[in-house]
Amino acid sequence: MWKWVAAVAAAVLIFGLGGIWLRLGSDQGQTGTSQALIPSEHLTDGKALYEANCASCHGINGEGQPNWRVPNEQGVYPAPPHNNDGHTWHHADQQLLEIIAQGGSLPNTGMPGYGGILNQAQMEAILTYIKTFWGPEQREFQEQVTRNRQQQTQ
Ligand code: HEC
Repeated sequence: MWKWVAAVAAAVLIFGLGGIWLRLGSDQGQTGTSQALIPSEHLTDGKALYEANCASCHGINGEGQPNWRVPNEQGVYPAPPHNNDGHTWHHADQQLLEIIAQGGSLPNTGMPGYGGILNQAQMEAILTYIKTFWGPEQREFQEQVTRNRQQQTQ
């Protein structure tokens, strides 16, 4: 009889400790990854919206149109890339959101304004998705530019 009690007690102890150990292990696995900073539903939404509205010009992977630095005969520039090769990551969030809402600032711009088509949350979700085209250095640089701009406008 006492043997059984001891065996059950030992089993409870082992399972209990095992559970704690497993929980600690999985917690550690979830912290410290940069992916965790972007809420996943935000990202999926942004991807779908980008592919539906923007990819036809800026490319499915943000690669832009060929010879994007050279305007055509009418002086209209092709769509620039949003990846590391372009200069989207040189601009603050506020400025990029303005361009997305209002369109390009050149008189004969090829960039339409989306303010009447997409709401603010959708434009922000697209911007969050565009940031996945950047490397760690571009992300860090653009975060700094965005912080500087915030300080200037406060
Ligand atoms: C019809 C083609 C076209 C579509 C569709 C389009 N763009 Fe553009 N986009 C352009 C062009 C061309 C420019 C360059 C600006 C200019 O010439 O004034 C540009 C510029 C931009 C810029 C500034 C880039 C930089 O590096 O400074 C952003 C940001 C941008 N577009 C985002 C978007 C987003 C987000 C969408 C979808 C919601 C979108 N664009 C859809 C053509 C397009």
